[in-house]
Amino acid sequence: MKRLGILFFVLMFALVSLAGCATSTVDIGIVLPTKDEPRWVQDETRFKDLLADSDYSVEILFSQGSTATELSNVETLISKGIKVLIITAQDGDAAGAAVEKAKAEGITVIAYDRLITNTEAVDYYVTFDSIAVGEAQGQYLVDHATGTGNPLYLYAGAASDNNAFLFFEGAWNVLQPKIADGTFVIENSSAAVGLQANATLTRTQMSTILDQVTTNWDFNTALSLAQTHLTAATVAQKGDVFILAPNDGTARAIADAFTADTAVTSYKITGQDAEIASVQYIIDGKQSMTVFKDVRTLVSDAITMAVSVLDGNTPTTTGTYDNGSIDVPAKQTAVVVVQQSNVTSALITSGYYTASQFTFPN
Ligand code: BGC
Repeated sequence: MKRLGILFFVLMFALVSLAGCATSTVDIGIVLPTKDEPRWVQDETRFKDLLADSDYSVEILFSQGSTATELSNVETLISKGIKVLIITAQDGDAAGAAVEKAKAEGITVIAYDRLITNTEAVDYYVTFDSIAVGEAQGQYLVDHATGTGNPLYLYAGAASDNNAFLFFEGAWNVLQPKIADGTFVIENSSAAVGLQANATLTRTQMSTILDQVTTNWDFNTALSLAQTHLTAATVAQKGDVFILAPNDGTARAIADAFTADTAVTSYKITGQDAEIASVQYIIDGKQSMTVFKDVRTLVSDAITMAVSVLDGNTPTTTGTYDNGSIDVPAKQTAVVVVQQSNVTSALITSGYYTASQFTFPN
C-alpha cells in the first residue's frame, strides 16, 4: 500500500512536470497591432532579425486592428506559458483587460511603442520620444513658411492611441506661436481655430480637435477626410499649403488628395516612420519629411528588458510615463528628421535600408 502510494506520487509528479513543459513552449510573447501598416511589419522583421540566434523562444501575433483579437492573442500566449509579454496596444485603454490577465499569471508586461493606459498591469514601457516626433513635424512646417496667412491643414492619429495625443501636443507646441502670430491660418478645424490662442491644450481640448481631424491611422479615412476638406475649402484657402500629417501612411494618402487638387500650387507635408514607400515619396518630392524612428533600437530595448526579466534581473529604465494609474518605468529613444537632403546618410549609410530598395533620379 505504502509502495503504491509512493508510486502514485512519483507518477503524479512526472505528469505535472510534463504538463508544465507542454504548456511552457514560448518564453516571450509579442503582440503587434496590424499587418496592414508597413510600420508594424517592419517591427516584426526587426524582432525576427534580432532573435534569430536567441536561446529564448518567441512568438509574434498580430491583432489586425481588433481589441478582441488582441485579447485572444494574449490568451493564446498565456496558454503557451510565456514569461514576458511585449505588446503594442490596439487601443490603449481597452488593452488593460488583456494585460491584467497576463499580470494575473505572473507575466511581466512591456508596453511597446504605445502606452497602455489606466491600468496597473504594465511593468515597463519602451518608446520613442513621441513629443519630439510632433515637435519635429511642426518645426519642419515652421522652417518652410514665409510671410503670413499660410494655409495650414491639421491631421492626427487615432484617439484610442495615446501617441496620437503626444504627437499632436508636440506639433502644437511649435505651431501654436506661429498660428498666433499670423504665419499660419488653420483651414480645416473649427475646434483648433477656437483654441488657437492657447499655448498648451488639455487632453479634452485636444480630443475636440482630434474629433474633427483624426485619420484613425487609416489611409482611406485620411484620403477621404482630406478630400472633404478640399471640397469645403475656397481657392483662397489653397495655393501654397502646409499640412501636418501624423505618419507616413496617412501622409501619402493626404498628399495624393492635395496633389489631385488643381487649386493647390504647392504643399509641404510631414510624416513619421520612414516607411519605404514614403522614403520614395520624399526622393520624388511628393512628401516633404519623415521622422525616422529606428525600430532596431526599440526592438533591442524591448528584448534586452525581456531577457533581463527572464534572467531574474531588473531591467534598466531611464524615466517614467504616467499612464493614468501608475508611473510606468520607461526607456525612451530619440528620433531623427529625414528629408530629401539626408535620405542617404540617415537611412542607407546607417544600414537601415539598402539603396536598391529605392529609385533615385539619374
Ligand atoms: C506609432 C507610429 C505609427 C502609428 C500608426 C503610433 O502609435 O508610434 O509609428 O505610425 O501608431 O500605426
